[in-house]
Amino acid sequence: MTHVFPRHTRAKLPTVAGGDGCYLIDTEGKRYLDACGGAAVSCLGHSAHAVTEAAKVQLDRVPYAHTSFFTSEPAERLADMLIAKAPEGIERAYFVSGGSEATESAIKLARQYYMERGEGSRRNVIARWQSYHGNTLGALAAGGNRWRRAQFEPLLTGAMHHIDPCHYWRWGEPGESPEEYGLRVANQLDNKIREIGPETVTAFIAEPVVGATMGAVPAVEGYFRRIREICDQHGVLLILDEVMCGMGRTGYFFACEADGIAPDIVCIAKGLGAGVQPIGAMLCSGEIYRTIEEGTGFFQHGHTYLGHPTACAAGVAVVGEIERLLPHVREMGERLQSALEAAFGQHPAVGDIRGRGLFRGIELVADKETKAPFDPALGLAARIKKAAFANGLMVYPTGGTIDGRHGDHVLIAPPFIFEDAQISELVDKLSGALESSLKTAAAA
Ligand SMILES: Cc1ncc(COP(=O)(O)O)c(C=O)c1O
Repeated sequence: MTHVFPRHTRAKLPTVAGGDGCYLIDTEGKRYLDACGGAAVSCLGHSAHAVTEAAKVQLDRVPYAHTSFFTSEPAERLADMLIAKAPEGIERAYFVSGGSEATESAIKLARQYYMERGEGSRRNVIARWQSYHGNTLGALAAGGNRWRRAQFEPLLTGAMHHIDPCHYWRWGEPGESPEEYGLRVANQLDNKIREIGPETVTAFIAEPVVGATMGAVPAVEGYFRRIREICDQHGVLLILDEVMCGMGRTGYFFACEADGIAPDIVCIAKGLGAGVQPIGAMLCSGEIYRTIEEGTGFFQHGHTYLGHPTACAAGVAVVGEIERLLPHVREMGERLQSALEAAFGQHPAVGDIRGRGLFRGIELVADKETKAPFDPALGLAARIKKAAFANGLMVYPTGGTIDGRHGDHVLIAPPFIFEDAQISELVDKLSGALESSLKTAAAA
């Protein structure tokens, strides 16, 4: 009998015993190809010795010191490395322990920034439906994942407002070009700001490539440039949540590089620690930082493990490894897309295969013509996850792709050390899992 409180109380999980490159190994010796990095975390695989060694060295030096007393060499170094690569204007790094803490910090910093400027009426945040920004209450309220929000709705602040996501394949009108569609949905932000009053809005928050909720959906060309324009026009801060899509996953160190824009605040996590240490960061513009510095001089936020030296030491090593692997991510990302298209492009249950770099999504449809989803009662995504895992493959299928209830997709986010052999194994095993799941779903 276990005393662990697991995610799913009825699930019987194997016990992990080891890792070897792109594979995890359980106590029975069974190997699992990790094609999703857990949840897009293990970007360097499971034997990232450069990172584990860096963490060990710091553990022996000084594992932890509270940030109200000390800064640390690893935190200083990691901040320098990230800021050197960050989008234009981003000058400061605030280290936390994960993605939700990063987005909470961003939301609170945006509010405090306007308080310091004497614009206390600014209190609202605008986000997008079918997004995810974390599970703490502020981040959950910002997120537009209806299923995750539903039972906690009474606890979620009314300061969060939502506009539609940008997913041309699903919502582009007949005859509408991707650019026209992008402008149309970006302009919803302008409408929403005007509706609730520009003087009440602190920030717009969005994932440059929507991750788990929609399955690796980048915005169309021009969408984020228009979003940036609208934010500037109304003095609204742009917060990009790169917790899942950042840190090289899309083939760019920061995902927003592909969209040709710079945010005021950007949140990263997951790949920053590569799973070796829990760490996230909120990076903000020099302008925001200086406003606090010249105002109260104190960001009224914080957690016990801010700037954790061991986590930062791991982060320093991770950044070095990612730098080395970025060209490989781009190349393998193209090969992965081609392999998925070759294997599944003509499949009657596959509607769309998309993504950037080693961040890919396959959206499933009951009808290829109409793009109608499968009946949610069939639980197709869950079936695929189970069948794949039984066959030694980890992928990240999720339901609710369209509206939190309808739609299924499979998210693929493998380690950056993925090679052709792993692409073949992934395609093979995923194909088997898809066929067997469709069969059992049809019989259900
Ligand atoms: C885009 C995005 N933001 C925030 C989070 C929350 O991160 P964490 O689970 O580390 O709190 C996630 C986690 O999946 C995410 O994908």
